[in-house]
Amino acid sequence: MIPLHEALVAELAELIAIPSVSADPAHADDVARAADWVAARITAAGGTVEILDRGGRPLVIGEVPASSEGAQTTVLVYAHLDVQPPDPLELWDSDPWTLVERGGMLVARGVADDKAHLFMLLKAVQVLRAAGELPVTVRFAIDAEEEVGGHSVVDWVTADTGRADAAVVLDGGYATETLPSFCTALRGICYFHVTVRTGMRDLHSGMFGGAALSATHALLQVLSAVLPGPDGMLPAPLRAGIVPPTEEERSGWSALPSGAEELASQGARPVDASAADEFVLRTTAEPSVTVNGIEGGSPRLQKTVLPVEARANVSIRLAPGQKTTEIAPVFERLLREAAPEGTTLDVDLWSSGEPGFVDPAAPAVRLAQDAFEQVLGARPLLTRSGGSIPVVAALAARGIPAVVTGFARPTAQIHSPNERIPTAALREGLETTVELLRRFSALG
Ligand code: BES
Ligand code: MN
Ligand code: MN
Repeated sequence: MIPLHEALVAELAELIAIPSVSADPAHADDVARAADWVAARITAAGGTVEILDRGGRPLVIGEVPASSEGAQTTVLVYAHLDVQPPDPLELWDSDPWTLVERGGMLVARGVADDKAHLFMLLKAVQVLRAAGELPVTVRFAIDAEEEVGGHSVVDWVTADTGRADAAVVLDGGYATETLPSFCTALRGICYFHVTVRTGMRDLHSGMFGGAALSATHALLQVLSAVLPGPDGMLPAPLRAGIVPPTEEERSGWSALPSGAEELASQGARPVDASAADEFVLRTTAEPSVTVNGIEGGSPRLQKTVLPVEARANVSIRLAPGQKTTEIAPVFERLLREAAPEGTTLDVDLWSSGEPGFVDPAAPAVRLAQDAFEQVLGARPLLTRSGGSIPVVAALAARGIPAVVTGFARPTAQIHSPNERIPTAALREGLETTVELLRRFSALG
């Protein structure tokens, strides 16, 4: 029933070849083309589909009915068709938009995050329906702005009144190379763009340095106010609302690689002496702040300038239990209070997403674990994830049990050069998705 490996790779390569970078307006047509490609696959599988235009970015909503009219269960499936920008290009060993097989891996931008997963959902439904064996009605919500924190799918899920007995969010991965996992919680995010102005034009740093306010210095002071203290924890106002992990969750962490290994395997260095030991706590149960980029003055050519404008992108990951509407204003207040007098400070909240929760006791989660165990020979571990997928909170708010998972490995290098999945994961993931839909017919 499942096509040969070569045919699967060739079809996935078509989607990979569309550079659907949501963050780059120059790729808006490509994002639209990717949406058309996905919509055509849903139609080909025997479904109906519409592409909603959400402020210029598409949202693909589709439905493929169960093969038998008596089947009651409806499953909502989610993946995203947009990808992160591929830069820096010089660190890629092959073209990011050409799917290649190298050393047992399929390599390309977006292959792990999230196009192979999207493809598995489309293909699983297509093959089941073609065989007259689609046991549930499948509704598709395919996001084109996940990587820029877009709200379209969150708004759609919130407003939707259609049936969904369970959801499958295929946008995660294994806990280790060999152990699949389901996310029980994800962090939220508030992403800010900060601009500091301290004068009309740049000045001679010899003639004015020491007396005139500098935008780069003011920006450093502003950002310092939201950075962690020596114990690695953020200022108390930014930690309000955290739901601490249960004893059961903590004991599950022993099945995970040590924090020292997690860091070393990525060439990362611990931020302080406790960071490796507290790796899982820090990345999944605590909020964290990242200054994602800074610009100001002349950081390359030697220029004795006193800059009057500086900018930064700075974001905070919210721990489960926190709310964007509560943390965002506090974050902005801390920035403003730290600005030296005379500074003009603009703070724009570019995007936000709520932390996600999944009820680990939901029957859908156990059925899904059974399906994974049958095909993969390993029962998925239930773990929190440090990343963010805004739709998960919207599903939880509607009481739709969600299985948040995927087949990418910790070595997938998502958002980085040479993004990859194991070659075998394509077929394994597809077979598992087929089994998952079969098992879900027991719901509803
Ligand atoms: N698939 C990731 C989130 C993820 C990462 C889940 C690791 C599980 C494990 C997703 O595409 C992502 O990168 N999300 C962004 C969201 C943001 C832009 C709102 C993120 O986490 O940075
Ligand atoms: Mn993703
Ligand atoms: Mn991503």
